[in-house]
This record gives sequence, C-alpha cells and structure tokens, in this order.
Amino acid sequence: MKTLIFASANPNKIREVREMLDGLYEVKGLHDIGCTEDIPETADSIEGNALLKARYVVEHFGLNCFSEDTGLEVTALGGAPGVHSARYSGEERDPQANIDLLQKNLESYTDRSARFKTVIALVLDGQEHLFEGLVYGQIRKEQYGEGGFGYDPIFVPDGYTLSFAEMDKNEKNGISHRGRAVQKLLDFLKQAG
Ligand code: IMP
Repeated sequence: MKTLIFASANPNKIREVREMLDGLYEVKGLHDIGCTEDIPETADSIEGNALLKARYVVEHFGLNCFSEDTGLEVTALGGAPGVHSARYSGEERDPQANIDLLQKNLESYTDRSARFKTVIALVLDGQEHLFEGLVYGQIRKEQYGEGGFGYDPIFVPDGYTLSFAEMDKNEKNGISHRGRAVQKLLDFLKQAG
C-alpha cells in the first residue's frame, strides 16, 4: 500500500483520518517518521497554516504529505477564534479554558451560530492541492458529552440535537468539517490512482 504522511502529532486526528483512508493509503503521523519538532503555525489563515505544515514535511523529509488545519468560526465574534482556535485562551492550548473564554465572549449575544472549517493541504509529487470542509451549527451554553475533543462538547451541528462530543466517532466523521475535507481528499486520491 502507498504511504502518505499526515503532518500531525495529534493522535485524535490521526486516528480519525487513518480510519477514513483505510485500505487506500497507509497513513503515518509525524512521530512515525521521527519528526518531533513543533512545526511553526505562523500564517494568518487556516489555509496558510495547512500549507506551511505540508511544505515543511516535503522540504525536510521528501515525502508525499498532507496536513490539516481547523478553526471554529463564530458568527457573532466576527469569525473568531478562527485561525487562533487552539491558543484562544493562551499558549497552554487548554481546551476547557478555550471553551470558557468563548462562552464568556458570547454571553451578550443571541446569535450563537458558528462553523468549523478544515482545510487540508496535500503536496503530492510536488503539486499542491487544497480541500475545504465546513460544518455549520450552534454553540450551546452548556457542555454535553465526553467524546471528541476541543470544542466538541459545545458544538451542535445544524439538523442534529447531539453535540459532537455525544456522537460516536463514525457519526461525527460522517458529517464533520474534517470528515468532509478528508472525503474530498479521498475522492481526489482515488481519481489520481
Ligand atoms: P488545530 O487545527 O489542531 O490547530 O486545531 C485548532 C483548534 O480547534 C484546537 O483547539 C482544536 O481542539 C480545535 N479543533 C480542531 N478540530 C476539532 C474538532 O473536530 N472538534 C472540536 N474542536 C476541534
């Protein structure tokens, strides 16, 4: 089976994506290729950060690679936290502190609509490709569920009553921002052979 590097050290994400590409590509994470550096995510957009990470692996390891960057964009907050989602409350990247700050900043708004946006950047045989996945939903005032990660306990996708953290992973993967972007990547890779 062909190998693709997923430029991520996040075991949650690697697991999700590996399951979706199962049978088509062997997906290796950064640790599997001995890359332990924290790749700088210094771009000012989700697309830019996705490209930075993929290019880094191609430059340093010479391997076909894709990377992913995700942000939660809240309408009332003008798209924040967006590209700053991981470090919204500080460098510790503490998911609970991020949720708490988001709730505080949203307190005075009735519009609690938001979307998750994922951009996957693929560098395959020197060619760059971008794939976007979006899911729209609402930010709940309380937290629901123990599954998932990040902002999952407060995000309920439109048309559903369960938060992402209450869904089993197949249900989440089927409708999520990352799931949709990975599906586009998958369709492309199948066509590319
Ligand atoms: P990054 O793409 O790893 O930088 O993620 C940015 C931020 O979004 C982190 O705080 C993650 O916890 C959060 N995040 C990324 N994907 C998801 C998801 O599927 N659900 C909830 N939060 C997520």
